[in-house]
Amino acid sequence: MRILVLDTPAEAAAATARLLARTLRETPDAVLGLPTGRTMVPVYQALSRFYHRGSADFSRATTFNLDEFVGLRPSHPGAYRTFMRRCLFDHVNLRRGATHFPASGPRAARGYERAIERAGGLDVCLVGIGSNGHLGFNEPGVSLEPWTHEVRLLPVTRRANAHLFGGRWQDVPATAMSMGIATILQARTVLLIATGEGKRAIVQRALDGPITTRVPASLLQTHPHALAILDAAAARRLAARRR
Ligand code: GLP
Repeated sequence: MRILVLDTPAEAAAATARLLARTLRETPDAVLGLPTGRTMVPVYQALSRFYHRGSADFSRATTFNLDEFVGLRPSHPGAYRTFMRRCLFDHVNLRRGATHFPASGPRAARGYERAIERAGGLDVCLVGIGSNGHLGFNEPGVSLEPWTHEVRLLPVTRRANAHLFGGRWQDVPATAMSMGIATILQARTVLLIATGEGKRAIVQRALDGPITTRVPASLLQTHPHALAILDAAAARRLAARRR
């Protein structure tokens, strides 16, 4: 796994957005896997700026979000759809119908995998990392689900998402749909972005530690084209050879 360390979170976000904009220039009909989370806000802001300046064109792109809560109406303020509209979709030229989110139920989950396949597979899957090492909503455990599935969210994850629900973690749905670990690992390129000292310990475990389902992001070490983009604070504990 290649690692790129930038000084600040803003530089790491801009570098990530530049790589995505380059993908869109080289592959205008790119299929992108997209995450949510606070780390992504400056990435999506930079991408929206690139679109306005004419250096990113989404007109032929297709997106599949990594995950979505179960049981929320699409316009619910806490829904990941709402986050994506607010942070990216309302600001760029994605076609109507070009953005996708996993709907609840095993049938819809299988349909999501088929839709990704029909679109030609993910060219780039952008991922963040939960403080417990989760990718999308693939929570640590003795095993991981390969494909899109329903997840019972751990309390730590519901707390990490409480800001979308007025700060009340009890209001965060207890279940969500998520791409599986194989859905993510089948992407031609995986870009992981992690910033801030809050991610320092988990970045070290995911990138320098053993590959284990206890740290789902550690499976990215097996991907032939994975790049981690970090700021200095998140990278500080990585072995010196990695920085
Ligand atoms: C949520 C998302 C993950 C994301 C994580 C990190 O749990 N489901 O895809 O990686 O948040 O979020 P943040 O960037 O806010 O730390």
